[in-house]
Amino acid sequence: MIFNIRNIDRLESTNSYAQKLLENGDLQEGDVISTYNQENGKGQGENFWESESGSNITISVALQPRVIHPSQQFIINQLVSLALVDVIEQYVANEEVKIKWPNDIYVADKKIAGVLIQNFIKGEEIEFSIVGIGVNVNQKEFYSDAPNPGSLIHYFNNTMDLKQLLDQLLLRIDVKYEFYKQMRNVQDLKSNYIDKLFRFNIWATYSDGNKNFQGKIIDIDEFGRLIVKLKDGQEKTFMFKEIEFIL
Ligand code: BTN
Repeated sequence: MIFNIRNIDRLESTNSYAQKLLENGDLQEGDVISTYNQENGKGQGENFWESESGSNITISVALQPRVIHPSQQFIINQLVSLALVDVIEQYVANEEVKIKWPNDIYVADKKIAGVLIQNFIKGEEIEFSIVGIGVNVNQKEFYSDAPNPGSLIHYFNNTMDLKQLLDQLLLRIDVKYEFYKQMRNVQDLKSNYIDKLFRFNIWATYSDGNKNFQGKIIDIDEFGRLIVKLKDGQEKTFMFKEIEFIL
């Protein structure tokens, strides 16, 4: 895929801007909306994504994943999360890089990157996928109430070149995306994802919004839902926002 990086000096949100372009018929696969001044970044749910001016990567990548059925849209989350892990691992020597389900990237106990995917479905196809990615790179202090934010600079002691990092990330996304399109190997992708999954097969504390409980992540299903084993042997399936990790 050829990426077309459209760098815009200042934006509210790269995802909202990409969505506008889509509505105007001006978005193509491979378009990458990038800004170094995102002023009102969107996180998962109602959250705000904090990003200091000039310090981080905030992009939205436009894909047209026609080979991925809408019911399998979690494949996009998996591909992008794994691409992020690959890149971040290059700069973090002594800590583990993990994916906190569904697609937060953690280094040790700090969230370094977040992904917000908006899929536009037409009939039986994902017509467009706007893949919003925020990677905290050179920002040293965080002020929002996001839990455990961190930056690559906390692990890699030099200021990093954002453009170089962006190119590496796009290359990884491309490789994973094209490889998947050729092989369509859902099982391999899932096992790579599970390999990097934070707290996989480990007893830990979670909350279902009402109470805390002990659980162990044992699998994800084909829709990307989390399957957690409880102490009484029961297995429960959770959708996003139905389960909270107690850190
Ligand atoms: C999350 O973890 O809550 C998801 C964060 C996604 C942030 C990125 S930054 C670039 C893109 N544009 C946005 O407005 N949000 C995403």
